[in-house]
Amino acid sequence: MTEHIQFSDDQYALLLLDQRILPTREETFVCRTTDDTVYALQTMVVRGAPAIGVTAAYGCCLALREARSQDDWRSALAANLDKLERARPTAVNLSWAVRLMRALHEELGDVRAEDLAKAWLTRAKQLHAEDIETNRRMGSFGAELIEDGDTVMTHCNAGALATAGHGTALGVIYSAVEQGKKIKVIANETRPFLQGARLTAYELHKAGVPVTVACDNACALLMKRGMVQKVVVGADRIAANGDAVNKIGTFGVALLAKHFGIPFYVAAPLSTIDRDTPTGDDIPIEDRTPREVTHVGDTQITPDGVPVYNFAFDPTPAELIHGIVTEKGVLRAPYEASIKKAFEG
Ligand code: MRU
Repeated sequence: MTEHIQFSDDQYALLLLDQRILPTREETFVCRTTDDTVYALQTMVVRGAPAIGVTAAYGCCLALREARSQDDWRSALAANLDKLERARPTAVNLSWAVRLMRALHEELGDVRAEDLAKAWLTRAKQLHAEDIETNRRMGSFGAELIEDGDTVMTHCNAGALATAGHGTALGVIYSAVEQGKKIKVIANETRPFLQGARLTAYELHKAGVPVTVACDNACALLMKRGMVQKVVVGADRIAANGDAVNKIGTFGVALLAKHFGIPFYVAAPLSTIDRDTPTGDDIPIEDRTPREVTHVGDTQITPDGVPVYNFAFDPTPAELIHGIVTEKGVLRAPYEASIKKAFEG
């Protein structure tokens, strides 16, 4: 697939494949400033928890470049980082990445701006590369859960596009396919931003993995007819007790999977696990603009004056999750203990 996150040293700019207009157009969105990066995150030019983390790391480098021209560059930088960190509230990879960059700054002490810039850019590139390696490791653990001939349902896009590459949930599928297993995928369309219909279908189709798009509300019928053997989804934040917050609708898919006895797995790196947040109900849920629900493209589909709900995520309780696939292996319930062990091991 086209490199969807690239940093250009020559232009000192972050080049993002604009996910808002996929699959019909492949265009690059260029970020040179903090405001560009915040805009790209908020409007979902780039989205998906690990991709948000990598973007934030490069965003710190852009924030520093911008602040360097100020007399008090440290204060200007701090203000830029705060803005960046607040761009979206749910995916914990955003604050995780900014925190890592801040920690490196502290480690370097009273450093000159140009030296910090060098150190940060190196670290951002490292995080970018590490994310792909992490996903590959996660993929090889997760692929063991998938049998030859399975049809796997997924919700939203937790693929290469949502990460630095390979993907989390789709990484499991790509790795199973690489092992020679014949896998089909059902991509739930994922209203309202249509990450499933537009992005999951785009990247799986491009990779030659058979994929069928289904309306979100077809899930029960597909499961009842025996058309789904496994569900694998990603996560934006996992609480200390294993509750997993992912794209709105995931909770419903998990409940249906339980009803029909279908294993439901979450695939996410340890950077998505927030041990400081006890349960899924403590995770902030992003409330996005009504326009995503009231319009499809430029066409209005709801009457003027009627309010809508547009919560972007929901928490799936740990008891509905058969396993959490991480780069350290597949974690099993009780998650409090297995998560602790994964961080310590
Ligand atoms: O609003 P989005 O598109 O950023 O939400 C993304 C998801 O919910 C993904 O499923 C999740 O981040 C996992 S990405 C590997």
